[in-house]
Amino acid sequence: MSRQRRRLVYEGKAKALFEGPEPGTLVQHFKDDATAFNNQKRGTISGKGVINNRISAHLMMRLGEMDIPTHFLRPLNMREQLVREVEIIPVEVVVRNVAAGSLSKRLDIKEGTPLPRPLIEWYFKNDELNDPLVLDEHILAFGWAAEDELDEMFGYALRINDYLSGLFHAINIRLIDIKFEFGRHFSDEGMHILLADEISPDTSRLWDLETDDKLDKDRFRRDLGKIEEAYQEVARRLGVLPKSDRAEASA
Ligand code: TMP
Ligand code: ASP
Repeated sequence: MSRQRRRLVYEGKAKALFEGPEPGTLVQHFKDDATAFNNQKRGTISGKGVINNRISAHLMMRLGEMDIPTHFLRPLNMREQLVREVEIIPVEVVVRNVAAGSLSKRLDIKEGTPLPRPLIEWYFKNDELNDPLVLDEHILAFGWAAEDELDEMFGYALRINDYLSGLFHAINIRLIDIKFEFGRHFSDEGMHILLADEISPDTSRLWDLETDDKLDKDRFRRDLGKIEEAYQEVARRLGVLPKSDRAEASA
């Protein structure tokens, strides 16, 4: 299926969504484009789309086996996967196990400080406002999500974080923090919340357990070099690195 013949439904910074082959489905296309600090820094990470497509498909499938409902349906090709169409809830859910990034900055906590328990933060998904940190009170007051949806997202976020922390630990990676997006899926059985978007080194912080080497998008955000290698390393440890990665990454 060529890209041109399909209707573009949405184009984001790192992904594009096209109309899917069946009603209620979308084709999620992973690009090599990377942005940071709300589009102020732009670049490409060669082969990232191929690798994130693999990593996200793999992790969403594992989560599905753990009875976490996700939008993922099936892989399509190197850069694309079929997903369920959902109405994205405009709230980014961040779970933190170790202080880093904006938490470290905001509260002056040294990066790498373990947190006594997983910390959940809500951010309003709004580029113009630079995705501000918000309280559940704001989410309810402005109707971005209902109370039962917030409870569900909170519960899923903790369960997913718990499962993924163990999965990454087994491959010598510490899950420092991670961002989730959820969506509403409407079917004959009513409305259900699904994990949507992607799970990848773009949307999490992953540190090598022994060396604390960063294996995630902070290598791009902070100009640390060896960006492609870090993404490949995560895919390799997960056992999902595409075989002829170099040839296919440019496809
Ligand atoms: P932060 O420390 O910059 O707030 O990021 C927390 C986590 O959320 C980190 O794993 C990266 C991820 N994240 C995104 O996926 N998208 C974003 O726009 C931002 C700011 C962070
Ligand atoms: N969402 C941020 C941006 O658009 C990227 C990030 O820092 O992860 O630039």
